[in-house]
Amino acid sequence: MTIQKILKMKNKEKIVMVTAYDAPTAKILEKAGVDIILVGDSLGNNVLGYDSTIPVTLEEMIMHLQAVRRGAPNSFIVADLPFLSYGYSIEESVKNAGLLIKNGANAVKIEGGAQNCETIKKCLNIGIPVMGHLGFTPQSLNMFGGYKVQGKEESAKKKLLDDALTLENCGVFSIVLEMVTESIAKEITEKLSIPTIGIGAGRYCDGQVLVFHDIVGLNPEFKPKFSKKYANTFEIMLNAIEKFKTEVKEKTFPSKENVFEEGGK
Ligand code: KIV
Ligand code: NA
Repeated sequence: MTIQKILKMKNKEKIVMVTAYDAPTAKILEKAGVDIILVGDSLGNNVLGYDSTIPVTLEEMIMHLQAVRRGAPNSFIVADLPFLSYGYSIEESVKNAGLLIKNGANAVKIEGGAQNCETIKKCLNIGIPVMGHLGFTPQSLNMFGGYKVQGKEESAKKKLLDDALTLENCGVFSIVLEMVTESIAKEITEKLSIPTIGIGAGRYCDGQVLVFHDIVGLNPEFKPKFSKKYANTFEIMLNAIEKFKTEVKEKTFPSKENVFEEGGK
């Protein structure tokens, strides 16, 4: 997968993006042949036990990005710049984006619209492809005051469309649209020549992204309307651990076939 192929998929083939945070899940995604693996800062919620993405550091992102790259050596990987690793200084932002590339990402993702243009242009100048992210942008949770659908009022629709067009002009190769109405996602998708990738953004985006843990049902309490659980791995894993526990307590594990013996194999 390349930037050029992703751009050409618009209006031809839907783009599939899934998050990964470690080597074994990255291996599953590479085997399934997803188009893009996203090392999202949702690492915070899904793996590190934080209740938002805000505490996630660049160091944590790099550590998990390295693991994902080892698990998926041939995949196209986008990595999120986490909160406070960009936005306050162009130099710091570009340096931090570069660190993600040095550690295995093919591109970086930045939340926000027009305010990021200078950073995006500087990144592109030194060879760092950038994906945008508009709508409900979780790093700004404190500004939104909760997990709310964006783009409902006329002024919000206009701002979203303006931001999307500005990002396209700045040179992003794709934009994630998160938790926006289907109608504004459709309008943005039709007006842009780069692909949109939606999460809670309806049916008309050029691609869809979901969080690995939501797809496989690893987080049973989290049931957002926009997501879909394709398996119940929480139950599967729980059953496996309970069986192991029972067998140890009942002394049926380890059995003869699990032990080493002198002169044996
Ligand atoms: O971090 C993440 O998982 C994301 C997706 C929701 C797009 O940014
Ligand atoms: Na993210």
